[in-house]
Amino acid sequence: FGAAQVLVASNRGPVSYEVVDDGSLRAKRGGGGLVSGLSAIGPEADALWVCSALSDGDREAVRRGAGEDGVRMLDIPADVHADAYNGIANSVLWFVHHMLYQTPLEPVFDAAFRRRWASYESYNRAFAEALAEEAARGAAVLVQDYHLTLVPGMLRELRPDLRIAHFSHTPWAPPEYFAMLPGDIARQLLRGMLGADRLGFLTRRWADAFTACAERFADGLGDTAVGVHGLGADADFLRARAHEADVEERITALREEIGEGRRTIVRVDRTELSKNIVRGLLAYRQLLDDRPEWRERVVHVAFAYPSRQDLAVYRDYTAEVQRLAEEINEQYGTPGWQPVVLHVKDDFARSLAAYRLADVALVNPIRDGMNLVAKEVPVVSDAGCALVLSREAGAHEELGEDAITVNPYDVVETAGALHEALTMGPGERTDRTKRLAASATALPPARWFLEQLDALRAVRPPA
Ligand code: G6P
Repeated sequence: FGAAQVLVASNRGPVSYEVVDDGSLRAKRGGGGLVSGLSAIGPEADALWVCSALSDGDREAVRRGAGEDGVRMLDIPADVHADAYNGIANSVLWFVHHMLYQTPLEPVFDAAFRRRWASYESYNRAFAEALAEEAARGAAVLVQDYHLTLVPGMLRELRPDLRIAHFSHTPWAPPEYFAMLPGDIARQLLRGMLGADRLGFLTRRWADAFTACAERFADGLGDTAVGVHGLGADADFLRARAHEADVEERITALREEIGEGRRTIVRVDRTELSKNIVRGLLAYRQLLDDRPEWRERVVHVAFAYPSRQDLAVYRDYTAEVQRLAEEINEQYGTPGWQPVVLHVKDDFARSLAAYRLADVALVNPIRDGMNLVAKEVPVVSDAGCALVLSREAGAHEELGEDAITVNPYDVVETAGALHEALTMGPGERTDRTKRLAASATALPPARWFLEQLDALRAVRPPA
């Protein structure tokens, strides 16, 4: 048995390394709910985060044994990792849960898929073995996401004493869509999940979809409990961070780009197929078409940060977003007005600056586990911000009442919603923003994390 009492497992860890010019390693810490959540359990608990070595620097840190305490990076062979991460997790599983396939041509489950699947199994096995080695007797293990669907079942076999939870940060596919997977693979995925004592989802909708899949393709949930934990925004952190000097600088720069006296419609996403950035741009163009009075008076600030560029469909999508933004600028732009300001270089400080300035936030995913942008904007907004929100975002379950709801496929409706948001009176906007911020912060990351840990310990008391 190992020494760790609480273990987290995820593909992307809390830190990454880079080899700098003098040959030393530089660590860069990531953000996100899990990072702040895990720090909430305090130094008294012996906690360990198991993750993949993703960069050359990460692999070098593993080789030198130079990683930081509390993190164990697994140096999975690059080809195995690529097949598991790109070939299965981000293609097949992400596509199934987000229902992204264009089904006349995809998916095709052929022999090459089966080879990639074998890599996914061995990648999951590497995690299960590392966790089994590191966990103290009766320890709590919190496995994250669709990359590691098989881990709970594998770990249960290796270490029946452990308390195992799995949390999905994505939607779960409804049974009719999940049925697309080869039957043996569908059953294997469910058996993997059902090896956990407890499964967590971001909304009731995704939890119900999982339960329906378990009933249709396995023998139901068995002894596995299912719970919902709607991760909220971290108000204290965001408000403090949004007033640091680098954010103030970016506000000045953005104001210059936007121009005096203009309204701003802001969106911030990874350039991700499910985020629906293209239809967002089409809706904005529709707004300029339908309501010429907005020309020269509004700017669409779109931050679309490249993501998963190893996959051709993501590269194509990124190119399409850029092409369409240019087209709109050519079509409508005037010497003093650029209708779309598109930035593709990831910059968190600039995202916060845009959140503070936004008059309207556009969050229109075709399907999204939660969407934290929808929750972060109202928390840091300077003067109130109207939220145009897709009914298909998990966040809609909590924020729907004070947002302007859209069907993400309907660009005419979305254009109308943008107009409604732009013309919302300041009083109503402020009131709605306050209520949105309250709902958005109902379950901050630290409590979200501890709630899961408590629930896991409750479903499985010490042996
Ligand atoms: C989603 C997943 C996360 C993942 C993130 C970024 O939100 O649920 O697990 O970390 O996307 O994706 P990446 O592939 O860059 O890790």
